Amino acid sequence: MKFQLSTFVGLLLSLTALAAPTAEDATALADVVDARSEAQDTSPEALGLEARKVTTCIIINSDSKRVNCRKGPGFSYPDIGESVYIEVGNAYPFGCYKKGDCYQGNCTWQKLATINCYVNGYYTDPRCTAAALGKC
Ligand SMILES: *[C@@H]1O[C@H](CO)[C@@H](O)[C@H](O)[C@H]1NC(C)=O
Repeated sequence: MKFQLSTFVGLLLSLTALAAPTAEDATALADVVDARSEAQDTSPEALGLEARKVTTCIIINSDSKRVNCRKGPGFSYPDIGESVYIEVGNAYPFGCYKKGDCYQGNCTWQKLATINCYVNGYYTDPRCTAAALGKC
């Protein structure tokens, strides 16, 4: 009887010993799989390619029908011309801002999100803050 019990306990112990490494292996394998799926994460966010935030602002503060959208943040940069009209009263998507020539005390130039041109901050509504847009 005693012999049988110790045999049973021995068998139980060896089963436990067998089971333990197997569970650890499974955990280790899960870690490897986790690390691999992180390394292979090709989502735009993981690659730093997520679309930039866009702020929609209305063109204000002008009696003209249109305002200039210049190729850079200053008056020496040419207006992009008739290819795009930036009309007063209409809303446009802006992506970022740059510091440049000041107009009416406003030295920020808001860059359109889709077109490479800048409108002086004096002409964009208060939503187009530097904080909302971020620097280009
Ligand atoms: C310039 O314009 C932007 C956008 O309208 C505005 O957020 C900012 O406060 C203005 N800065 C000044 C000095 O008026």
